[in-house]
Amino acid sequence: GHHVSSQRIRFQRRNRPCRYDIDRFTPSFLSIFESLVPSQEEIAKQKQLLTSLSRIINKEWPNSKLYLYGSCANSFGFSNSDIDLCLSIDDKEMSKVDIILKLADILQAANLQNIQPLTRARVPIVKLMDPETELSCDICVNNLLAVVNTKLLRDYAQIDRRLRQLAFIVKHWAKSRRVNETYHGTLSSYAYVIMCIHLLQLRRILPCLQEMEATYFVTVDENNCAYFDQVDKLNNYGAHSRDTVSRLLWAFFHYWAYEHDYTRDVISIRTGRIISKERKDWTRRVGNDRHLICIEDPFEISHDLGRVVDKFTIKILREEFERAANILQFDSNPSVTLFEPYVP
Ligand code: CTP
Ligand code: MG
Repeated sequence: GHHVSSQRIRFQRRNRPCRYDIDRFTPSFLSIFESLVPSQEEIAKQKQLLTSLSRIINKEWPNSKLYLYGSCANSFGFSNSDIDLCLSIDDKEMSKVDIILKLADILQAANLQNIQPLTRARVPIVKLMDPETELSCDICVNNLLAVVNTKLLRDYAQIDRRLRQLAFIVKHWAKSRRVNETYHGTLSSYAYVIMCIHLLQLRRILPCLQEMEATYFVTVDENNCAYFDQVDKLNNYGAHSRDTVSRLLWAFFHYWAYEHDYTRDVISIRTGRIISKERKDWTRRVGNDRHLICIEDPFEISHDLGRVVDKFTIKILREEFERAANILQFDSNPSVTLFEPYVP
């Protein structure tokens, strides 16, 4: 019946070789990448905002420290994206919500604009706009794991330039196709970058930094974060591989469309391998965690970045992976068709 034949098709596609002329499209993918990269001027403005906000906040809380995290610090940010900041503060007297409210007052007094404390969000934040640089940002409190995983992503990006090229294009595809919306049950940008790192680890273009001798260690909320961070010593690591960004894109979508075993596998950049759901006890739904696509967080290892995906959105995601894989295989103009906006 239908089931058997679709299995057969899946199996054939699993071994499908990449189209011979894939590299014809490399220049267009690279120019899309270049068009998304933020300018030096924009990066300088972000630094300027960090400095000026740090000065304002330190007057009130001398022992606090403000960090950039997320896309503006992990090197996977597009131009014109919002800035994520994290305030690290050791104050036993005040709750996170109290800190957020007081922070909003401090920023108000310093003439920042559009200040909104969002104390009831899953991660409480203050939103604001700086009239000087015209940048908008979100400040959260004591979310240091995010600061550490930001550094891990940035360190990986320094080893081989193809990671940044691939992840930018994957993020651009995900935004165009509307599968980068965690509040609607699809994946975060953070999850997509981890999926790209994993692919490059399997192809030996990237090492597994957490399996190497640690040169960087921090403990954040009982999580030991340790890995080899002297990445300037690794900038020849992937040189054996001549894979271009187009070939890697093909491999990325082919993997998620036809090769990944959604019933058994968990991808793990912490180990550089695929591990089993069984081993993590991610085989059944617990609370709201459904584990329909399993992406292990590198430091918070009980955390499945795919937990936002439900039985409806897993279907949407897999159809989008197949669409992208087929475009890369057959379309005469993949660098356009891939990003055609999703129209409901
Ligand atoms: N983060 C996390 N755990 C998640 C999602 C996000 O720790 N499940 C942290 C990561 O440090 C990540 C940051 O929050 O770098 C921002 O996440 P996200 O908005 O997904 O990524 P951005 O890189 O900011 O992407 P975008 O350009 O789409 O804003
Ligand atoms: Mg962001």
